[in-house]
Amino acid sequence: MHLTDIFPDLSPLQTALLDWFARSQRELPWRRDYTPYKVWISEIMLQQTQMDRGVAYFENWMRLFPDLPSLAGASEETVLRAWEGLGYYSRARNLLKAARMVMKDHGGVFPSRAEDIVSLPGVGPYTAAAIASIAFQQDIACVDANVERVLSRLADLAVPVRQNPGKALLADMAGDFLTRGHAREHNQAMMELGALVCGRKPDCPSCPLSSFCLARKRGTVSERPVLPARQKRIPITVSCGLLLHESRVYVQRRLPNDVWGGMWEFPGGGREGEERPDETVVREFLEETGFAVRVAKNLIVLRTNYTKYDITMHFFVLDFADAALRAAPLKSLPEPALSEADACRWVTLEELEELPMPSLHRKLAQSLRPGGNTLFTSLNDEGGPLAALLARQDNA
Ligand code: ADE
Repeated sequence: MHLTDIFPDLSPLQTALLDWFARSQRELPWRRDYTPYKVWISEIMLQQTQMDRGVAYFENWMRLFPDLPSLAGASEETVLRAWEGLGYYSRARNLLKAARMVMKDHGGVFPSRAEDIVSLPGVGPYTAAAIASIAFQQDIACVDANVERVLSRLADLAVPVRQNPGKALLADMAGDFLTRGHAREHNQAMMELGALVCGRKPDCPSCPLSSFCLARKRGTVSERPVLPARQKRIPITVSCGLLLHESRVYVQRRLPNDVWGGMWEFPGGGREGEERPDETVVREFLEETGFAVRVAKNLIVLRTNYTKYDITMHFFVLDFADAALRAAPLKSLPEPALSEADACRWVTLEELEELPMPSLHRKLAQSLRPGGNTLFTSLNDEGGPLAALLARQDNA
């Protein structure tokens, strides 16, 4: 089935769509000049990220890495730090790899055809089509979740859209509908319409396509698109420890091919069996560093969601179990035996600012700084939380 089977003449729909976009589009920073670099960064950032957050991160990113050569020349640590808080960190690692690849293999010129763009790390068919059309006006349609909603409602598609044959049908329809010669405007108009009007709670009276929309005519708007059942969320409990020594805290860098690869954190891990959270952190520390530690203080419990996981994280302040090590100067401490990390450091809270960290670890680190956030208001009142923690430790 083609869209032209339903709408033999698509031009009034295309005109209505493009006119609406010209009137209603949001002012977004990459829409000022549509340079390929900016379009590429925006497309990667907007995957799984809300527009407001995406724009804030985009502006900051452009201050740090204004063009391809500056990104290609940056360290992975700087790039991950700029991405920190956006999640799915492989996106940042792939941006860096791709920037280096464009410099090396494409003479510093961003490829213009979707067939070439798709071979860059981190770029799938959707993103390649988005970049080729938005940055280069290549006549290629793209289908994201926004476009999925618009098209499945317009054509009242009753089949699941994330699997074939529905998926292929939707891709064909998107191709039929594309306003040739205006792919930049057309694709963005479809995304914008899905984001601003044809959302999960649609605002049909404001829609430029409402008079054509089959789902609206048939009263099935709320049933389209047909999506898979939501994935079950999985609760997990994790314990992490801040091992303190001489006003420094121990951090380690996660292995490269892990979800948070290249990011620095306080060691820890998931609860096993019927363990208590303090038992988990002691066991994890031993496994990951070889250090035998004890809990000096229960710090706080924080919660977050990451992909399909609901994470409860227990933070502890730790010191060495062995009194001789507690009394030893930092320089004479043994090297850890790392099993889940490829580097480690004893850092001050100021130095921690520069290192990329997973969000909850950052939240905790920030709150420990005088004048930091307010997780520990009572401790902040006592003239600096870390000082308070260390004082406690010295008395131990
Ligand atoms: N989502 C992803 N890319 C977009 C764009 N260029 N405009 C609006 N929403 C988007």
